[in-house]
Amino acid sequence: MQEISEKIFNHISDLIYQEIGVHLPQKKKAMVNSRLSKRIRKLGLQDFEDYCQYLENNKQELLHLFNTLTTNVTHFFREKHHFDFLCNNVLPQVKDEKAGKKVRGWSAGCSSGEEAYTLAILLSEFFNQSWDTKILATDINTEVLNAAQKGIYHQRQVKKVPYELLTKYFQLGTGENKGLFKVKSKLKKLVQFRRSNLNQNQYPIKSKLDFIFCRNVFIYFNDKTQNKILNRFHKHLKPEGYLFLGHSESINTEEREGKWESVYKTVYQKRRR
Ligand SMILES: C[S@@+](CC[C@H](N)C(=O)[O-])C[C@H]1O[C@@H](n2cnc3c(N)ncnc32)[C@H](O)[C@@H]1O
Repeated sequence: MQEISEKIFNHISDLIYQEIGVHLPQKKKAMVNSRLSKRIRKLGLQDFEDYCQYLENNKQELLHLFNTLTTNVTHFFREKHHFDFLCNNVLPQVKDEKAGKKVRGWSAGCSSGEEAYTLAILLSEFFNQSWDTKILATDINTEVLNAAQKGIYHQRQVKKVPYELLTKYFQLGTGENKGLFKVKSKLKKLVQFRRSNLNQNQYPIKSKLDFIFCRNVFIYFNDKTQNKILNRFHKHLKPEGYLFLGHSESINTEEREGKWESVYKTVYQKRRR
């Protein structure tokens, strides 16, 4: 198959930006070329031109396009210092303040679920059964969400989970499932997975949140998109709630002004007005 042309790359990259806010710069052209070629072959189409026509006539193909072009690398206990900060600073504060015994967190851009399940494990360890704890976990990519929902991980994926937590929260596969670890239902019921686009105005959030983890997602957005999303996050957090960003992401000083306080490495607290 011929390589993707400049014209078609720009068309796909504009479409992705408009729909999900992900910025695909020129240096991603080889990645787009290789991933889309596979999709084109799978569909039995001839070339990129054919694919654009197909996309035009089949709106549901957009879902596959997002699945193909998003990057979903993740693991359990990723950037562990954030989880230490959560357990040592955020959760004790929540425990002191909450009369209603309700805790709500959001893993935004949750990929295959490792971040959301890590959070659920920590909430479950910290709060006793009488607390109502829930993690909402959202992503745009339906393939990773299906994997998250299944909650079955290979040994290499759970290597960062401490052994006592692994045996407590995962079922160890035997026989033909040897080497696989399945999230136990007591953990699964603490996490709700939903498809949701961060680039849209409405998020599926009902109650105010104690914390949001949106890590290693902002790197794919430009400043304008990041700022729009930050304003929505601000609205959904309770006063003094926390926002965790990835290690290479931040809120610039201008945006922080009066709204966010930097309290730890790429962790921000919503200011009480
Ligand atoms: C690199 S993963 C980060 C996973 C996890 N937060 C972590 O830090 O390990 C980025 C995720 O963001 C998702 N994503 C990208 N654009 C999105 C959008 N507009 N709305 C929702 N999720 C999006 C991707 O599908 C991908 O699963």
